[in-house]
Amino acid sequence: MNVQWLYFHPVRTKMQNDARKVAVLATGGTIAGTAARAGDNIGYTAAQLGVQALVEAVPALREVALITEQVAQLDSKDMEFSIWAALAARVAHHLADDGVAGIVITHGTDTLEETAYLLQRLLAPAKPVVLAAAMRPATALLRDGPQNLLDAVTLAREPGARGVMAVLAGTVHSAWDVRKVHSYRVDAFGSGEAGPVARFEEGWVRRLRGWPAGEAIGLAVLDQPWPWVEIVTSHAAARGEVVRAMVAAGVKGIVLAGTGNGSVHHALEAALIEAQHAGVAVLRSTRCLDGPVQMKRGDELPSAGTLTPVQARIELMLQLMRA
Ligand code: SIN
Repeated sequence: MNVQWLYFHPVRTKMQNDARKVAVLATGGTIAGTAARAGDNIGYTAAQLGVQALVEAVPALREVALITEQVAQLDSKDMEFSIWAALAARVAHHLADDGVAGIVITHGTDTLEETAYLLQRLLAPAKPVVLAAAMRPATALLRDGPQNLLDAVTLAREPGARGVMAVLAGTVHSAWDVRKVHSYRVDAFGSGEAGPVARFEEGWVRRLRGWPAGEAIGLAVLDQPWPWVEIVTSHAAARGEVVRAMVAAGVKGIVLAGTGNGSVHHALEAALIEAQHAGVAVLRSTRCLDGPVQMKRGDELPSAGTLTPVQARIELMLQLMRA
């Protein structure tokens, strides 16, 4: 093997040699955010620039055949079911196009892990679907969006790549594991115990483990109404009233973010078991940053396994929609 070739291959060569298209679907976020002052990294407004401005900020993308589409324009803290449904439909549309190598979704960082998990469960795509985001607005002195977008487009054309992933700060995370772990740092995402799928080095993908895989639920499930599912956290002096109020108001599912191995304050546990007996679906996850909830004899509340509370909420909604 030619070691020189392995280590000294410029990004340009890779971009020029591949005629396949990449669909870039924009949804807003800090990557499309602007501030009045270049030095302001927090006092900005997300979702200001359109998809065309985002791709034009990356000169290397001039060499790539792109399909661009503005699916939404929002701060991802305000994500809605209707936008998820529209996005999933557009992703499915482009996945079905043989001329499309892969898809990039520009997204806010705040609910990126929820969108990634949902798309993986719905579509389990055989092509790469890559979420690109940024922790600094497009007006920042040191903006991370253009590099993250370039890496995402490169990953979307990586031969053999598949599944929903996110790329930030040169690290590729699987939709199964990705989570926002820092509120400010540019390297704000992690993959928990599983670790990242790959890393970018000089524009090239160094793979560390398998691509995300799984079975697709399919988009037909979205014909059902999205059920109301909430997350409650167990903590010192927790009370059952919050659960009883939600049940009285018509909640369909509750995810517990329990302590440790999914343990729960006795007062909250009593209310959750009551809710379960009343027909509300309950899943037990952990507020720990890593690790599963292991079931033990006598447990009444089912475990969410290794899912984080927000992933478990999506999983429970999908289960209820499929029932
Ligand atoms: C958002 O999630 O849309 C705003 C925050 C971010 O992208 O970092």
